[in-house]
Amino acid sequence: MANKLMRLEGKVAVITGGASGIGEATARLFVEHGARVVIADIQDELALQVVSSIGTDNVCYRHCDVTDEKQVEETVAFAVQKYSTLDIMFSNAGILGSFGSLLEMDMAVFDRTIAVNTRGAASAVKHAARVMVAKKIRGSIICTASVESILAGTAPLPYVVSKHGILAVVKSAARELGQHGIRVNCISPHGIATPMVCKSVGADVGTVEATVYRNANLKGVTLNTKHIAEAALFLASDESAYISAQNLAVDGGLSSIMRPLN
Ligand SMILES: NC(=O)c1ccc[n+]([C@@H]2O[C@H](COP(=O)([O-])OP(=O)(O)OC[C@H]3O[C@@H](n4cnc5c(N)ncnc54)[C@H](O)[C@@H]3O)[C@@H](O)[C@H]2O)c1
Repeated sequence: MANKLMRLEGKVAVITGGASGIGEATARLFVEHGARVVIADIQDELALQVVSSIGTDNVCYRHCDVTDEKQVEETVAFAVQKYSTLDIMFSNAGILGSFGSLLEMDMAVFDRTIAVNTRGAASAVKHAARVMVAKKIRGSIICTASVESILAGTAPLPYVVSKHGILAVVKSAARELGQHGIRVNCISPHGIATPMVCKSVGADVGTVEATVYRNANLKGVTLNTKHIAEAALFLASDESAYISAQNLAVDGGLSSIMRPLN
């Protein structure tokens, strides 16, 4: 019997956007729980540092720009070739884009945001599903959406559109793939001071964390990447065996209330 603490023993995962932030934390946690992980990203140097700091043969890096479907397909094939199977796809790569008024919206930024966040997720879901269906693997596909998949909060409009789109990808895929025993879910975090956010708002980690905390509903805890990794671990593991087409908000309740009492 598998060690109860190793919740992903024997499973193989691809994590897009695994070089940094939420993806990096998830790669570390998945490996701790016995998974073999392919980190797929465009930041080669950073990703290789993450791989070497994890320091086992159970993690490796593959350059993959999720806007290029061929690279996504090849990354999935690489994972299957290297580790013999694919049980988990964590489609997590994303960009925030630039803040500004709708009245001045740059449609090239709109297209780029959709290409990375939504089209990238659709490609990842598609190619993971193709392998899982062909190999009869009852896999788990997880996408990182955002509270902005539920509300239009504080993010730029293209980002909000892109994250609502991911929810549509997840629901549609869950419907079609249920017959194959494949589950598809997404996770919707509230703000975390990752490089994506700090760079986009031009603020340091402490300032971003303080701002997010001020606007949060749940006090006494500062949301971090490990919290999202734990949610991904749950959705990837057999503990969520009958959960599909869900949007798991990791937001301290924020997206279900009109306004926090603070
Ligand atoms: N940090 C937050 O507050 C927050 C909140 C909700 C959702 N999210 C989502 O979490 C996900 C991870 O973001 P993060 O906050 O960890 O930021 P991050 O910048 O630390 O990580 C994002 C990773 O995605 C990679 N990436 C970007 N474009 C890519 C592409 N075309 N192909 C492959 N990889 C690419 C980056 O290189 C980076 O390593 C994103 O989808 C983001 O929208 C973040």
